Amino acid sequence: MTQKRADRKIDGLNDLAWTLVAEGKPVDAMKACVRLLQAKETPAAKALFVHLVKTGTSLDNRFVRQYLIRALSDPWCRTGQLVPASLALIKSNREAGRCIERAAASWPTPLSKEDLFGAEGLAALASDELLGAVLESTPAAGLDFEHFLTLARRALLLDVVASLSSEKSDSALLRFCCAIARQCFINEYVYNCTTEEIDGVDALRGAISERIAGAMPVPGGWAAAFACYFPLSSLPDCQRLSGAMTQPPLVGLFAQQVREPAREADYRATLQRLTPIDDAISRLVGDQYEEHPYPRWVRSPSIDGALPYRAFLANELGLEPARFSRRDDTADVLIAGCGTGQQSIQTARRFPAARILAVDLSAASLAYAKRKTQELRVGNIEYAQADILRLESVGRMFDFVQCVGVLHHLDDPLAGWRILRSLLRPGGVMQIGLYSEIARREIAAARELIAALGYGSTTEGIRRFRLDLQLVDRWRPFRSLAALEDFYDTSGCRDLLFHAREHRFTLPRIKECLAELELDFLKFNVDSTVQQRYALRYPGELARADLNCWTQFEVDNPGTFLGMYNFYAQGRA
Ligand SMILES: C[S@@+](CC[C@H](N)C(=O)[O-])C[C@H]1O[C@@H](n2cnc3c(N)ncnc32)[C@H](O)[C@@H]1O
Repeated sequence: MTQKRADRKIDGLNDLAWTLVAEGKPVDAMKACVRLLQAKETPAAKALFVHLVKTGTSLDNRFVRQYLIRALSDPWCRTGQLVPASLALIKSNREAGRCIERAAASWPTPLSKEDLFGAEGLAALASDELLGAVLESTPAAGLDFEHFLTLARRALLLDVVASLSSEKSDSALLRFCCAIARQCFINEYVYNCTTEEIDGVDALRGAISERIAGAMPVPGGWAAAFACYFPLSSLPDCQRLSGAMTQPPLVGLFAQQVREPAREADYRATLQRLTPIDDAISRLVGDQYEEHPYPRWVRSPSIDGALPYRAFLANELGLEPARFSRRDDTADVLIAGCGTGQQSIQTARRFPAARILAVDLSAASLAYAKRKTQELRVGNIEYAQADILRLESVGRMFDFVQCVGVLHHLDDPLAGWRILRSLLRPGGVMQIGLYSEIARREIAAARELIAALGYGSTTEGIRRFRLDLQLVDRWRPFRSLAALEDFYDTSGCRDLLFHAREHRFTLPRIKECLAELELDFLKFNVDSTVQQRYALRYPGELARADLNCWTQFEVDNPGTFLGMYNFYAQGRA
């Protein structure tokens, strides 16, 4: 086939798939999408696949499984968005599905290894590549799945502890145990454990430590079972485990739990500090993210291609060149509160000619960000520890300032916003993310109850709260919180419900702030389904930036900004 004919075939399939979406035939659209991906994995085909998966279309089909694994590993989007469809497919496998059902029916009552896995379950689970891809790349957000993993972890641990003298090894068990350990590290050991398990891990820790101290090999199954409860780096002389962990699946586990944290410790030692951090709330908030850096991402989406900065201003924000802050694409970008680097890496890949300064209070978050940045070979980001409240002293100006999910954690968000505004060149653009009062009503009520009942914001307090939410009657009205992705890892749950400081905004209040700061609202960064619904209700180009219309839209659709208000605004010249 000539190139032209091949391209025409791909365009035709793409059009057909989107027509089927528009006609409300998602299953047929998915079939067309699979054919499209088989012809060529273009960015458009991947985006269509992600759209279909996100909107709940799934097929129990080996090609869809294969593309889900690819989408999780590359990844083609934020990996959390692929979890519901992946878990549904995993459950549709007969053997795996039965294990999950047995766990769901029994939880919180434990099951023996035999009763949980049956005769074939462990082998089926260990060889399920989609399950492995989920467990190694993102928190597996789903209650029945968590119940299954919790009971599976216990059964595997007790099996290892019962046979500490025999050193027997089972490859399926080892593979599955390593996958659970990778998941537990990603979710920062958020799952509850029983006293029986605590005693078991203690015995295991003793046995492993003895082996390490005596320079004797540690069986892989022991290390994997231990790593399901604590990171391997918490063992004394953990580097000595390396000799016994050179083959898959142990090599990946050792990298995750020993090598990568060691590299982060090295980066931490060389971090530059740009400003003092002396504000009381900044210190409190900084301590939170020092203990629990957030978000704990593993893989960063690569689907948005690179873009010249001025093309972004013109095509995505609709700005006239006369209103740009600069005449070339080498924009100076400030990322204020960059967290663990997902945002800075995305921005750096998007605008390769930009010079990016990314700052945060938390050295642990910055070290994570720096390791990831180096692994992904992204070169245009400078990281530094700094407090937004003291940034005036850095003596630099910026064309683009991103501050998403940060200002609402300051004691006085507007004071921080004013400082960032003062660093913006005339005509420069800000991307701001702020919590919505309307969208977070239930979360705010849960925060109050958590505070009143005195759960601490420690890992233990968070585990206790999560268990009570599921089992205690008083928490019944809040059970829908378990549908949120952040519920499924410790730093996410702390950020969502246990934060040291949280303000929430309304759109009229944001309008007042923009007026005071001499910023012109440009547009919301919302997904295409919200854009379409809004455009149907408020058609026309002008309505896109009309905050009065958006205020009414939010009243009618209170969940719209559950993530947060995330918008662009331009500084007046
Ligand atoms: C919810 S995280 C968001 C991270 C990142 N913007 C993102 O969207 O992935 C909030 C981050 O803001 C940082 N932060 C909060 N107050 C800050 C301040 N006053 N100065 C600098 N960073 C701050 C925290 O340390 C934390 O890493």
